[in-house]
Amino acid sequence: MNQKHTVIVTGGNGFIGTNLVQLLLESRQYHVINLDALTYAANPLSLEDLEGHPDYEFVKGSITDRQLIDSLFEKHKPMGVLNLAAESHVDRSILSADDFVQTNVVGTYTMLEAARMYWNTLPDELKQQFRFLHVSTDEVFGSLGEDGFFTEETPYKPQNPYSASKAASDHFVRAFHHTYGFPTIITNCSNNYGPYQFPEKMIPLMILNALSGKPLPVYGDGSNVRDWIYVEDHCKAVKLAFEKGKPGEVYAVGASNEQKNVNLVNQICSILDNIAPPIEVPQLRDRGLKSYAELINFVQDRLGHDHRYAIDASKVQRELGWKPEVGFETGLRKTVEWYLSNPKWVDQASGGSYGEWIEKNYAWRTKKEAE
Ligand code: NAD
Ligand code: TYD
Repeated sequence: MNQKHTVIVTGGNGFIGTNLVQLLLESRQYHVINLDALTYAANPLSLEDLEGHPDYEFVKGSITDRQLIDSLFEKHKPMGVLNLAAESHVDRSILSADDFVQTNVVGTYTMLEAARMYWNTLPDELKQQFRFLHVSTDEVFGSLGEDGFFTEETPYKPQNPYSASKAASDHFVRAFHHTYGFPTIITNCSNNYGPYQFPEKMIPLMILNALSGKPLPVYGDGSNVRDWIYVEDHCKAVKLAFEKGKPGEVYAVGASNEQKNVNLVNQICSILDNIAPPIEVPQLRDRGLKSYAELINFVQDRLGHDHRYAIDASKVQRELGWKPEVGFETGLRKTVEWYLSNPKWVDQASGGSYGEWIEKNYAWRTKKEAE
């Protein structure tokens, strides 16, 4: 068997990171060093099955810690980095962007600079092989009207503090390629859904609120549109871009699956009505709910709420041969079933500092603006 490639994955304990680490290990091509600070968004249970895996090593630490990162390059001599670590929730970035600037901007710059210094020391053959793949979002392009799609050529126009911090990190990555010839690749992906997503994000939040009989807070009139991709499809695109992407290139990734928020929440409710009807859920039995959709509650809109995101993914399909494999109906059902089957993971994610945060910040979601 060929020798395995050592890679550093940052943010491997998060939602996409967990799915990506699993995919890399299943491929048996990689030895994975996972550098993760274990913030509120990481769940230690996500990767607990990998403890003792011969091709997996966890390092607790921050992508802002240059000394630690230098020591990881020195010790493991990786052939690449897959940079996922980030603060990722728009609502939190609106309350305060401090951590977003630190991790997304300073952290990405720190990873880049440490990686570039290491890359400079490599002999030519290894230098050619090395890749720095930066996982980014379509939110850097701003918001679309009713028509059109984001492509790799769309000008950057981030409109919330999260997307501004991701745009800044993308610019550093692009600049490192242009200035130093450092072999970077960027993927800009649309909204992911699937197992292991932290329940402050729309899909798991709606599933778990419904199951505990809480209101389902749809922002504004629910007409905002997101383009959803099953997380495993995104991870396959990231792996392909890492392996076959051309240095300096950018790939927009999406599964052509636009959904209006209110329609999506209704679909989640109807799946739940089928597989866990309210009458069969002990804590809901006395509520007289016929459908979870009765819990839908239109609340005050998010500040500066981007109206629509949609990706034209023809480049990644054409140049890397990628295509999404999981249809939305199947993926959404699998996701709902995953949250129902993993109560321990859900308890761990919903407790602790997130429990306190949601209590404190829930008020604005239920309060409608004075008409
Ligand atoms: P997440 O919030 O679920 O996970 C982020 C992970 O990064 C956590 O494990 C956290 O502990 C870790 N982390 C945070 N700060 C860190 C630091 N300073 N040092 C080391 N680790 C740190 O996020 P996600 O949804 O898995 O997103 C992963 C990446 O993909 C992000 O860069 C995000 O911008 C991008 N992205 C996400 C989506 C989406 O829909 N979730 C879509 C496109 C792109
Ligand atoms: P989210 O999952 O936070 O992802 P992003 O803001 O990065 O797109 O939100 C997805 C959409 O759902 C977005 O338009 C905001 C909306 N939303 C709600 O209506 N209610 C909620 O409770 C949340 C968390 C999001």
